[in-house]
Amino acid sequence: MNNERTITVRAHAKVNLFLSVVGRRPDGYHELESVMQQLALHDELAFSPAAPGISLAVEGDPDVPADERNLVFRAAALLAEAAGIEPAVGIALRKRVPSSAGLGGGSADAAATLAALNRMWGLGWPLPRLMELAARIGSDVPFALLGGTALARGRGEILESLPSPGRLGVLLVKPPFGVSTAAVYAGYDEQGFPPGPDASPLVEALRAGRADLVPGLLYNDLEKVTLAMHPVLSRLKERMLTAGAAGALMAGSGPTLFGLFASRGEAAKAATAFPDPDLTVWVTETEGEDKLVATGEGESLQ
Ligand code: C5P
Repeated sequence: MNNERTITVRAHAKVNLFLSVVGRRPDGYHELESVMQQLALHDELAFSPAAPGISLAVEGDPDVPADERNLVFRAAALLAEAAGIEPAVGIALRKRVPSSAGLGGGSADAAATLAALNRMWGLGWPLPRLMELAARIGSDVPFALLGGTALARGRGEILESLPSPGRLGVLLVKPPFGVSTAAVYAGYDEQGFPPGPDASPLVEALRAGRADLVPGLLYNDLEKVTLAMHPVLSRLKERMLTAGAAGALMAGSGPTLFGLFASRGEAAKAATAFPDPDLTVWVTETEGEDKLVATGEGESLQ
C-alpha cells in the first residue's frame, strides 16, 4: 500500500506516424488504422493523499481547465466509481504538452491518472482492465497507457505493440490556434473521401528494423482536412522539409506539425528555421521504452 506517499508520473505526448480512416461507424466514430508513437515531451502529475474528494491544480497552461472538464478529473472519478472507492486525492498537473494540438496531451494525463491511482489505491488492476476504462475516457487514452510504438485499430483502442524506430529527433511546430478533433472528423466526412491506405508498409518497415524508411512512409488522412481549414499549415510543412526534416506530417487532427530527423541534435538545428514569434517550437525525440515512470520515492509504475 502506498497511500501515504506522493506518486509522480510522466504523461507523454504522441504523434501518429500513420493515420488512415478506413470507415465510418454507426456510433459516429471513425474506424482507424494508425501507427502511434510516444514522444519524450511530457506533462508531470503528482498525486497526494488529501481531504475527501478529487482536487486538481493545473500549472503551465491557462487554457487547461482544473475542473470536471479536465480528463484527469474524469479518469480519477471513473476509476474511483469502478473500484467502489471514496476518492481523497489531490492532483497537481504541470502542463508542457500543448492542448488542442494533436499531441494527445489530455489523453496522456488521463492515462497517467489511471496508472497512478491504480497504484495509490492499491487496486492492482492489470493493464487490460485499465484499458477498458481508458477507452471510455477517450480514443487516444488506451495508447497513452500502453506507450511506446503501436498499431491502433477500431476507434484507436485496439492496440498491438510494435518495435520502436529507436531514438529519432522530432521537431514540433505549433501555430497560435487549436483545432477541435470532432470538427476535423466532421470536415473529413463532408468531403466524402474514399477509405485511406493500409498501414502495412510502415508496420513491416518497423518490424524489419528499418527506421530509415519511416520518414518516407508518414501519412495522415486528417491532414488534408486541417490544412484546407488553415492554409498556413501547408507553408509550415514545406518549411519543415526545407529545414532538413527527413519527413514531415501533421500530428493527429492537428494543428501541430512534426518533422523527423536522424537525431535530437539535427532537430535542434532545424528549429532555428522557425524564429516566428507566433509559433511555439519544441525539440524532442521518439521514445520507445520509457513509459509511465513514477519518480516519487523511487517507485516505478511499470
Ligand atoms: O474519443 P475522443 O473523445 O478523443 O474523440 C473526440 C472526437 O473525435 C469524437 O467526438 C469524434 O467526433 C472524433 N473521433 C472519431 N473517430 C475516432 C476518434 C475520434 O470520429 N476514431
